[in-house]
Amino acid sequence: MARNKIKYVCSNCGYESLKWIGKCPSCESWNTFLEELIEEKKTGRKSHVSDHQITKLSEQVVESEKRVKTNILEFDRVLGGGLMPGSVVLIGGDPGIGKSTLVMQAASKIDDDVLYVTGEESANQISLRAKRLKVTGEKISIMTETDLDIIIGGIKKLEPKVVIVDSIQTTYKPDFENAPGTVTQIRECTVELMQLAKKSHCAIIIVGHVTKEGMIAGPKILEHVVDTVLQFEGERSYSYRVLRAQKNRFGSTNEIGIFEMHDDGLREVLNPSEIFLSERDKHATGSVVTSSIEGTRPILLEVQALVTPSSYGNPQRVATGFDYRRLSILLAVLEKRANLRLSVQNVFLNIAGGIRIDEPAVDLAICCAIASNFSDKFARNDTVVIGEVGLGGEVRSVNHIEKRIHEAAKLGFKRVVVPFNNIKTIKTKASIEIVGVENLSFALNKVL
Ligand SMILES: Nc1ncnc2c1ncn2[C@@H]1O[C@H](COP(=O)(O)OP(=O)(O)OP(=O)(O)O)[C@@H](O)[C@H]1O
Ligand SMILES: [Mg+2]
Repeated sequence: MARNKIKYVCSNCGYESLKWIGKCPSCESWNTFLEELIEEKKTGRKSHVSDHQITKLSEQVVESEKRVKTNILEFDRVLGGGLMPGSVVLIGGDPGIGKSTLVMQAASKIDDDVLYVTGEESANQISLRAKRLKVTGEKISIMTETDLDIIIGGIKKLEPKVVIVDSIQTTYKPDFENAPGTVTQIRECTVELMQLAKKSHCAIIIVGHVTKEGMIAGPKILEHVVDTVLQFEGERSYSYRVLRAQKNRFGSTNEIGIFEMHDDGLREVLNPSEIFLSERDKHATGSVVTSSIEGTRPILLEVQALVTPSSYGNPQRVATGFDYRRLSILLAVLEKRANLRLSVQNVFLNIAGGIRIDEPAVDLAICCAIASNFSDKFARNDTVVIGEVGLGGEVRSVNHIEKRIHEAAKLGFKRVVVPFNNIKTIKTKASIEIVGVENLSFALNKVL
């Protein structure tokens, strides 16, 4: 009997090796190599090219870009205006975050026929969820199947405008001996779905699970294959969920969609600033409001800081929703440029609402929140603080300043502290006091 040949594939990036290796030489992750069978490649294929296979770009008939709307505003925004026919969208996220809920709600609102293929739940479970989400779904057909060949048969038979495959990890091609969920199966199934989408002009949404490192299994391979990669994320203890584009061939990757999870499903959050500030204690030290731009939208957020004396030599620094290294830099700047003795203090920082921000424009608000709690002085609660802080303690200008100021004025704030260099570009007529600051010490005087 012929022995099956075995290879080892990194479940993170798809790197292949004939021997088992502890650390992947490509993506440097540990313990990710899994055993897979080497699939025999069929040889002797023809390489004859017929005339119609190569055409001039100028002769190409351009079909109008008519997108299929999910009619969920936040979802459509992240997609760049809706689903592009013939494209494949991958939605990844932690287990239980609400991926199936999101796609089911989208399916119910799409005006065209939708085929929902599930390999994870029974038709009964799906209908129970649909009932809970109050989804009627006359246009939704359900298929409980994991065999890709049968799924493709179903798609060809029904010819729906949108197909949802939940999830790619349970889908398998029987031609391959590898188990479902292995890198080979995931890649082959995705490639085949991609080809089908291009040929039949339907949009396919693929749901994918995230590995413990926070990556979609086999991300390097899948990211290249699919047109759009969306990440559905959120802190489990909060009800807010954020849909973020990591890659989008048909739209910007800066847009985010914000949802709130309720008993009856996900609800869109169209006024995020109001929601994120709703629970703010205006009379607590260490609380400062800032404005972050997410995609094209300004969102007001509350930065909270707690500074306590450290009884041991090694003070703790904990950041939730903000980059830990950036916090360390800001603490060093506060110590050196504003003379705050923070090196013997524990510092805890939190962006309220379970949101994550990566924008330097929130630096100044973070510094003010830490200084406020450390010196036990209230930050003015009618003020929004905006600005990037440099290593020299200078406050640097930020982009989209007018949008940020408008949002602050809209929510009833009376005052906004902004980088001095931004002042000359501001032409707003909003009724709000604008204070320009050049450096950190001056800003602290204006805010505290
Ligand atoms: N009966 C319920 N009442 C309220 N919320 C519920 C109920 N059932 C589920 N949920 C919410 O929906 C979430 C699960 O949603 P969903 O099944 O869409 O997640 P998922 O990302 O598809 O999960 P999986 O990784 O298991 O496929 C739960 O975490 C919970 O917040
Ligand atoms: Mg699910």
